[in-house]
Amino acid sequence: MTKSSYSAPVALRADQAVQRGPAVQFLVDGCTVRAFGGESVAAALFAAGRRELRCSPRDGAPRGLFCLMGSCQECLVWVGARKLLACQVPVAGGLEVETLPFREERHG
Ligand code: FES
Repeated sequence: MTKSSYSAPVALRADQAVQRGPAVQFLVDGCTVRAFGGESVAAALFAAGRRELRCSPRDGAPRGLFCLMGSCQECLVWVGARKLLACQVPVAGGLEVETLPFREERHG
């Protein structure tokens, strides 16, 4: 997983007839991600073009968002010192999120 995976164009959010929360920025694997209050970390990552959040422990296949309702556990990320489901965590300015591979690479 590279930092280049964060640079996909952001054109996935609907632009019309949507009232958004305030613009916020948070960090994912050390990269700034722009989002809006009221979005989940998962939604912000999807809008930013990020699809892979971890790898399958069985075969190393990339894993990412699937159910978006807290059931599948595929979106597990580190948020500060806790492992949480990205689809269940609301974005907040200054939030620090790390994907599992990034965290393992950083901490061994
Ligand atoms: S996407 Fe399934 S638990 Fe988050």
